[in-house]
Amino acid sequence: MSLLQVNNLHTYFDTRNGTVKAVNGVSFSLEEGRTLGIVGESGSGKSQTAMSILQLFQKNQRIAEGSIIFDGKEISSLGQKDLLKIRGNEISMIFQEPMTSLNPVFTVKYQLVEAIQLHSKLNKKEAVARAIELLDAVKIPNPKQMLRQYPHQLSGGMSQRVMIAMALACDPKLLIADEPTTALDVIIQAEILKLMNELKDRFSTSILFITHDLGVINSMADDVIVMNGGKIVESAPIKEIFKNAKHPYTKRLMAAFLKTDIKNYQAEETLDFYSSENEHYDFSQYKETGVADPDWVQVSDKHYVAVSLKKETNS
Ligand SMILES: Nc1ncnc2c1ncn2[C@@H]1O[C@H](COP(=O)(O)OP(=O)(O)O)[C@@H](O)[C@H]1O
Ligand SMILES: [Mg+2]
Repeated sequence: MSLLQVNNLHTYFDTRNGTVKAVNGVSFSLEEGRTLGIVGESGSGKSQTAMSILQLFQKNQRIAEGSIIFDGKEISSLGQKDLLKIRGNEISMIFQEPMTSLNPVFTVKYQLVEAIQLHSKLNKKEAVARAIELLDAVKIPNPKQMLRQYPHQLSGGMSQRVMIAMALACDPKLLIADEPTTALDVIIQAEILKLMNELKDRFSTSILFITHDLGVINSMADDVIVMNGGKIVESAPIKEIFKNAKHPYTKRLMAAFLKTDIKNYQAEETLDFYSSENEHYDFSQYKETGVADPDWVQVSDKHYVAVSLKKETNS
C-alpha cells in the first residue's frame, strides 16, 4: 500500500478574473521510505500540489476534485481540525525560507521544546533532552548553545537545520520539503541535502521533495514527476528521466539545467525537444496549446509520458 496516493487532484483559486486551475488533474503515489521529487519551473503548480495535501489554503482556494489518501485514510475531505492533528504529527513540512517559519521573538529552545511537547507526552526536562538529541541529529555543532539562540542569530544553513529538527520532532511518516535549499548557497545546499538523505534512512521517513532544480532532484529523489501548467507531463524513476526523457517540456528543463551545470549528458540530443516524435508519439496538441496531452503512454516499467500515440497510417 502506498503511504500517499493522490488521484486526479484539482486545486483552484477563485479570483475576480475567474478560476485559476493551479493544480489540474494530478495523480501520483509515494511508497513508504521513498523520496518522490516534483520538478518544474516556477508557477507550474508544485507548491499548490503540496499545500493541497494538508489544505494549507488561502481563503479563495479549494480542492475542486480528486482524492488524497494518506496512510489508508481519505484526507481531502477533512476539516481544519482533523488536518491539524495530521499536520506536524504524521506529516511535517519544511519550506524555502526557514526564517519565516521560525518565530523571531522566541529562542530555538522555546520553539523546539514546544513542538516536541505538542506531539508527545514528554515533560519539560525530557523534551529539552529530546531537543538536544534532534539538534545533534541534524549535525548542529553545539546543541546546548544553539538552544539559547534567537532565529536572527542563525545563518541560513543553521536555521534550515533547526527547521529540519523541528519537522522531525514528531517522527513524521511523511516529510514534505518545498524548495528547502533554494535560498542557500551551493555548499550549504549540498550539506543539507546530504543530511536529509541520512535522516531519511535513520528515521525511515518518506519524502515529497519539491524543487525547480534538476540537480537537486538528482541527488534526492528515487522517482520524479515533472509538472507543467498544473499538470504532470512525465513521471519516471530518476535515472530514467535523465537517460530517457520523452516529453519536450522535460527535455527543455533538462537543457536549461545542462547549460548551467557541467554534466556528462548528451546535450545536443536533448536540444531537439520534439525528437521523441520519431518514436510514434504525437505532441501536436502540446505544440499548439502548451497544455499537456490528457492521454498517457507507458514508456517502460515505471515511466509514463503525457502524450498520445500517432495514428498508424496503413502504408
Ligand atoms: N494566491 C493566488 N491566487 C491565484 N492564483 C494563484 C495564487 N497562488 C498561486 N496561484 C496560481 O497557482 C499556480 C501554481 O503556483 P505554485 O504551485 O506556487 O507554483 P510553483 O510552486 O510550481 O512555483 C501559479 O502559476 C498561479 O497561477
Ligand atoms: Mg513553489
